[in-house]
Amino acid sequence: MEQIKQQTNLAKIIRERRAVKKGYNDKKVTEELVLDLLNDAIWAPTHGMRQPWRFIFIDSEQKADFAKKVAATYPEEKQENREAFLNEPNAFLVVIMEEPEMQKQWDENFGATAAMIQNFWLLAWEKQLGVVWRTNPHVYEPKVKEILHVGDNEKVVGFLHLGYFDEQPTTKERIPVVEKFSRYNG
Ligand SMILES: Cc1cc2nc3c(=O)[nH]c(=O)nc-3n(C[C@H](O)[C@H](O)[C@H](O)COP(=O)(O)O)c2cc1C
Repeated sequence: MEQIKQQTNLAKIIRERRAVKKGYNDKKVTEELVLDLLNDAIWAPTHGMRQPWRFIFIDSEQKADFAKKVAATYPEEKQENREAFLNEPNAFLVVIMEEPEMQKQWDENFGATAAMIQNFWLLAWEKQLGVVWRTNPHVYEPKVKEILHVGDNEKVVGFLHLGYFDEQPTTKERIPVVEKFSRYNG
């Protein structure tokens, strides 16, 4: 009975988690909380026990400086807009992954890192901390890798925009599984 109840809670959190993209308030996202969430999130599956991730936290005090530097990597006409956009969340967690040369290992590392990010996202949601994994163009910008001291053999998997929020994000429906499910028929 207990087991059924636990599964139901997990399913509920999985279904209710949302990407929080806007409407952040000023409540501070602390390094302590982020570390706490990460300590659980890193129990994601990881092939060869490579645990290919590392993290850079940008807190609310560093955010404005970071936003300015990242925005400066854009063409001049976009800089003001990008700086304002990057000042919206309270903090960032940049997720970085080791990039092996073998395609198989790269795929495994990306899969493990994505699973870890989902863990983090769910755990944050449980604490009512808003998260969105973003892959804006600056994530792929070599100058941003320099700003963050990211190595040549590393990939910036994404910026996790973090912030508490007052307004519930809207739900986006999923395509029913039956529409994507078939049986192998020999
Ligand atoms: C790998 C990945 C990259 C994403 N990049 C962005 C992004 O750059 N900008 C954005 O607004 N949302 C981004 N998202 C969030 C999705 O837009 C969001 O998860 C989707 O709209 C479904 O909404 P939900 O998470 O609230 O269910 C990304 C999600 C994933 C998994």
